[in-house]
Amino acid sequence: MAVNNMAVQGKFITFEGSEGCGKSTQSKLLLEYLKAKGLDVQLIREPGGVAISEKIRSLLLDKANAVMNKECETLLYMAARAQLVEEVIIPRLTNGVILLCDRFLDSTLAYQGYGCGVPVEGIRSMGLFAAKGIQPDLTILLDLDVEEGLLRRGAERDRIELRSLDYHNRVRKGYLDMARKEPARMMVIDGSQAKDVIFTQMCARVEQLLS
Ligand SMILES: Nc1ncnc2c1ncn2[C@@H]1O[C@H](COP(=O)(O)OP(=O)(O)OP(=O)(O)O)[C@@H](O)[C@H]1O
Ligand SMILES: [Mg+2]
Repeated sequence: MAVNNMAVQGKFITFEGSEGCGKSTQSKLLLEYLKAKGLDVQLIREPGGVAISEKIRSLLLDKANAVMNKECETLLYMAARAQLVEEVIIPRLTNGVILLCDRFLDSTLAYQGYGCGVPVEGIRSMGLFAAKGIQPDLTILLDLDVEEGLLRRGAERDRIELRSLDYHNRVRKGYLDMARKEPARMMVIDGSQAKDVIFTQMCARVEQLLS
């Protein structure tokens, strides 16, 4: 992997998928698994992870901000990402850390691109700018029926989760479309399987990446 031609030694693994598909569950399990092996590993989440990005996260998820338009939303996600990349992602990868990230650029492509209709190529260019060329070495995409995912999440919904089922289905299809185009980077796992089955499938792929 290269960041503006600067070599980085770490590995960058992202977790993606629609609401309630199991990203947080599986990323925490992987964190503990890799830690137990004595590896230098860290888990972060988007949007957020550093002070400025956490403030932007509050703006993005606040139900009171119903009037926020899709361009503003896209730029705020990118702004939160840019700060996290600068403060955490590049320094950790440069130091050889295995960095697990709960959501990254694919979320913006799926939710604001496929979901809201923001031009996907525009988001990709902005993503390169915000992430300084950093791309995941591996992305675990947990695919799950959107109604099942929302049910798992329970009654409390943030601004994004409150959107229609049609919207969430466009997001899901968007993720699958991206995975078809980038099979080497994106591993699709059936998120309706038991947690331990998903974990075993994910670990096999991660071991391959780290070997
Ligand atoms: N394979 C699974 N089978 C059944 N329930 C699961 C499975 N994986 C996770 N869950 C449960 O579903 C709920 C949502 O899981 P989790 O928080 O990991 O999803 P998420 O993708 O991080 O959600 P969000 O998009 O809201 O961040 C949790 O209560 C979790 O325990
Ligand atoms: Mg989560």
